[in-house]
Amino acid sequence: MRYPARHINPPSVDPTEDPSTEAIEFISAYYKERKLSDVANRIAGVLDEIATTGTYWQTSAELAYGARAAWRQSARCIGRARWSGLQVRDRRAVTTINGIDSELAEHLRVADNGGRIRSVITVFAPDHPQTGPRARIWNDQLIRYCGWQLDDEVLGDPAQQGMTEAALQLGWKPPDVASRFDLLPWVIETATEDPTVVDVPRHLVREVALAHPDHAWFADLGLQWHALPVIANMRLRIGGVNYSCAPFNGHYLADEIGTRNMCDVGRYNQLRTVAAGLGLNTENEASLWREHAALLINQAVLHSFRDAGVRISEPHRESELFMRFCAHEEQAGRPVYGDWSWLNGSVGWAALHAVHHRYYDTRMPNPNFWPRARTPLSEPTLREQNAAALQGG
Ligand code: ARG
Repeated sequence: MRYPARHINPPSVDPTEDPSTEAIEFISAYYKERKLSDVANRIAGVLDEIATTGTYWQTSAELAYGARAAWRQSARCIGRARWSGLQVRDRRAVTTINGIDSELAEHLRVADNGGRIRSVITVFAPDHPQTGPRARIWNDQLIRYCGWQLDDEVLGDPAQQGMTEAALQLGWKPPDVASRFDLLPWVIETATEDPTVVDVPRHLVREVALAHPDHAWFADLGLQWHALPVIANMRLRIGGVNYSCAPFNGHYLADEIGTRNMCDVGRYNQLRTVAAGLGLNTENEASLWREHAALLINQAVLHSFRDAGVRISEPHRESELFMRFCAHEEQAGRPVYGDWSWLNGSVGWAALHAVHHRYYDTRMPNPNFWPRARTPLSEPTLREQNAAALQGG
């Protein structure tokens, strides 16, 4: 496999970083919340381990608690009331592309659950304290549709055009005929193996064709979406330990698909098409044709997912549930972290409960999920970074 020549950057970790403070804070919070005894003993063990290795190995129970706490503290997520139900798959021993590939397939199977979507995280090996990530998934989500650059438009999801290009450059053989909904393959790399393209196990990907209960023509638009949003490009950080490869999923909120993925100009851009189907006057903004069309698409999403038996949330009940989560956090004496703008996106936004609640703690504490840069085609591979770090720079 050949790569474009690249400038070799230093590894993206700080080897001088001391995880001790964050580790003590995390272990203390865990023991306190779970009412466990002998925290001093565990902290002493952790500090010993950090002193000799620069990091420490969390127990499976600590990892599970940390992953759930990371969800609970994710300021942008409205579905956090479900944090304690997160199923944590401890796969820290899996470090090869083959192993990761089959665990990702298993993740899809467990999360899909016949359409009754379960919230799941699969945690692979922690980053090495000196050399950084041991594995990395390039895709922003495990299930995505390709974006094909045609002469003057993009067929499919324009947001995935870069990733589609990257997969092709890495030698992926695209389908014979491109369509709007071709599954993107995974690109996986490890500290010892170059980035490798892996086809997504198609039979594990549930998809829903969009139809509207009152408008038969809507189905003819040929729109669809997948059932599972599995974020794969965020770094989970728990008690001073980074997990750069820890894909996780919840289930969809209708607006994510109906208002954003289908309507954003830089995504499937369907407002004008649907407005035309409704016979609306798109010359006149005061007709609110955009709102009308967006509403129709959201109804189609909710209707189609429910009809197919696929779990999806509707914004008003979800907002109410989120307010209960806030109340519960306050009762438990914890700050309620939140980002108002992310918690309140809906076509009928002003009627959401959480719109009228503005008092959030806007800090980002750990454990948490941190954004990571997109497609690293222009960066050194993990293997190169690893070799550079081992040579001392
Ligand atoms: N908004 C993203 C998408 O449309 C998914 C983000 C995570 N969403 C979730 N419900 N867990 O694909």
